[in-house]
Amino acid sequence: MADQPSAPSPAATPQLETAQTETETPPAEASHDLLEANPELEEEEEFDEDADSALGNDNASSTNSLTSSIMEYRTIKGRTYHSEKHESKYFTPNDEQQMQSQDITHHYLSILLDDKLFLAPIKEDIEKVLDVGTGTGIWAIDMGDRYPNAEITGTDLSPTQPLWVPPNVKFEIDDCTKQWTWAPNSFDFIHMRYLFGAISDWNELLANAYRCCKPGGWVQSAEMDVFLNSDDGTLKEDSTIIKFWNPLWRGMTKKLGVSFQVLEDRSQNKGFEEAGFVDIEEVNYKVPIGGWARDPKLAEVGEYTLLALLNDLSGYTLLPWNVVHGEDTPGYHETLAHLRKEFKSKAIHGYMTLRFVYGRKPESA
Ligand SMILES: C[S@@+](CC[C@H](N)C(=O)[O-])C[C@H]1O[C@@H](n2cnc3c(N)ncnc32)[C@H](O)[C@@H]1O
Repeated sequence: MADQPSAPSPAATPQLETAQTETETPPAEASHDLLEANPELEEEEEFDEDADSALGNDNASSTNSLTSSIMEYRTIKGRTYHSEKHESKYFTPNDEQQMQSQDITHHYLSILLDDKLFLAPIKEDIEKVLDVGTGTGIWAIDMGDRYPNAEITGTDLSPTQPLWVPPNVKFEIDDCTKQWTWAPNSFDFIHMRYLFGAISDWNELLANAYRCCKPGGWVQSAEMDVFLNSDDGTLKEDSTIIKFWNPLWRGMTKKLGVSFQVLEDRSQNKGFEEAGFVDIEEVNYKVPIGGWARDPKLAEVGEYTLLALLNDLSGYTLLPWNVVHGEDTPGYHETLAHLRKEFKSKAIHGYMTLRFVYGRKPESA
């Protein structure tokens, strides 16, 4: 019943094959099945210019109660972000629109991994699992279903997880960048996925995970490289992706000190090694943006990756725009329109790289 990972693909990331010999389709004419089925995604997302200013906090009245203050979300242009109770400046909203994108992300990762929830070779009879930065809790809930005898705890800055979950799944508010208060040697498996932009010290994060993992237990980290590449030159130097999207994340790293260059810096790998894990494995995937890949599974993954991006492009970029360019800098909507066009274009064979790193805490530790 447990997920038995098949032999992982090699760490190398071979060139993705395209579905057809490329005819230079003008981006504007590029068709897209999912978009045809979801015409509303063509629309610019509503943007409330009268709403509170960027990085401002319109929740002026705070209470002394931790429980309620944690619910006092910051609002930026109509989008809500985690409470200011946390020091974190995490960049995506915690509202319904962003949560949809998180669930779509879970879906494309499930397709990519042939329905496996993880790659680490964990044992059947796990008792305790921790999902750090659980988001909508969708991974934790799936784990709870697949391992009914295990207790799954998901943690996040925001209490946005559903109330109706399997009885063996629970959620807690916790900032994973603080010293972890979980008991040492307490989890059989610690899972972390898509924490790019949330962590300034990966060594510290993985040292915490090492301490709280049981001897013989496993920790797995999966991170996406938000920087887009193409292997065949279809991503041009003058594209908005190259001129705006990729530099935006470097700007965020510089301004906020939280890393978006997790793969480039090999932060996961170094953190696992530094902490003392053994049997460390790295598995990389190229995740296409859009359905251009020849391989049908990758084409489907690409369609859903595109959908996740387009569903909430403003959620991914609003705070970064304000931080890097300044909220009063004109051109935000035009830039997003160009990005949408390029992401949807089948003439651009863009992909992001996804890296899984997992390791075991030695029995003797
Ligand atoms: C991109 S979402 C990924 C959600 C989930 N791991 C998944 O893969 O479906 C990142 C999540 O990390 C959470 N997060 C960011 N910084 C955090 C921190 N310092 N401590 C705990 N959670 C954090 C965010 O609130 C968000 O829900």
